Amino acid sequence: MRVIVAGSSGLIGTALVSSLRSDGHDVVRLVRRSPAGPDESRWDPQTDRLDTKILAEADGVVNLCGVGIGGQRWTGAYKQLIRDSRIAATDVLAEAVTEAGVPVFVNASAVGYYGDTGDRVVDEKSPSGTGFLADTCRDWEAAAAFADTATVRTVLLRSGIVLSPHGGILGRLTTLYSLGLGGRLGNGRQYLSWISLEDEVDAIKFVLTHEDVSGPVNLTGPAPVTNAQFSSTLARVLRRPAPWVVPGFALNVLVGEFAHEGLLAGQRAIPTVLEDAGFRFRHNTVGEALGAARVR
Ligand SMILES: NC(=O)c1ccc[n+]([C@@H]2O[C@H](COP(=O)([O-])OP(=O)(O)OC[C@H]3O[C@@H](n4cnc5c(N)ncnc54)[C@H](OP(=O)(O)O)[C@@H]3O)[C@@H](O)[C@H]2O)c1
Repeated sequence: MRVIVAGSSGLIGTALVSSLRSDGHDVVRLVRRSPAGPDESRWDPQTDRLDTKILAEADGVVNLCGVGIGGQRWTGAYKQLIRDSRIAATDVLAEAVTEAGVPVFVNASAVGYYGDTGDRVVDEKSPSGTGFLADTCRDWEAAAAFADTATVRTVLLRSGIVLSPHGGILGRLTTLYSLGLGGRLGNGRQYLSWISLEDEVDAIKFVLTHEDVSGPVNLTGPAPVTNAQFSSTLARVLRRPAPWVVPGFALNVLVGEFAHEGLLAGQRAIPTVLEDAGFRFRHNTVGEALGAARVR
């Protein structure tokens, strides 16, 4: 296959490009800087700049763009950037894949779509929730759905938290836990839908090639856990104590609005579409995923 990948320099994109290439696929990375070689093409989602010729021979486009949601305090300007970096890139690509008739468009989204689910189990048929992240995911998915025509199969990747020692939340937590500073956040009852980086990459490759899969797909391991369960499992894998409890009010003061939606709320999302389509997870429990991530 010839696959075009946007947002390819990030945690998921780096692993996906490497895996697609080692499977023998031809990958072109869309880059927001000068291209470093013939397998890169410059684009600028903010100014609608894209060399659409590269889409002519493409078998699929994967869009993983977006600034980190936990990277900075959620000021008005940063919230705007969270939205713009996702929705502008999706707008440009949705229009381009439709015009070029690319067979499949795979666009990132997140389980934040469901809002705070408490201990209610949600799958792809569940409605969207409330809050900034749910609103952003809804608008992000609507932008991708522009490409949802008879010719372009569109897949919306509702990812849970991707577990990898090389980045994302686990990269940061491992340092804290290794210092014995781990512990649960708030009452610890908020659910966390996680997926190992290997399963995330395999699932993206799976949806690229499975023509019966379209629309929203939860990229989450089969067994979401509470924050308290995640904390105790990570402590066990690292063989470190995790005695601390970070009170919700302290997180709200320290981190601001992100604490409320990103740390003290959560989703209990299960991967119904993937499992019904026959996808097999390598890591079925958070313990397996953390063990495989070789967090030490
Ligand atoms: N990691 C997770 O746990 C997780 C969970 C749920 C959903 N997701 C979603 O999955 C996607 C990929 O996640 P990731 O963890 O790989 O993210 P990441 O490591 O933060 O990488 C995201 C990529 O987005 C591109 N980007 C950054 N700022 C941008 C901007 N202002 N405009 C356009 N593109 C920009 C960059 O790629 P280039 O420099 O190559 O353009 C960057 O490498 C994101 O949309 C994220 O929201 C991730």
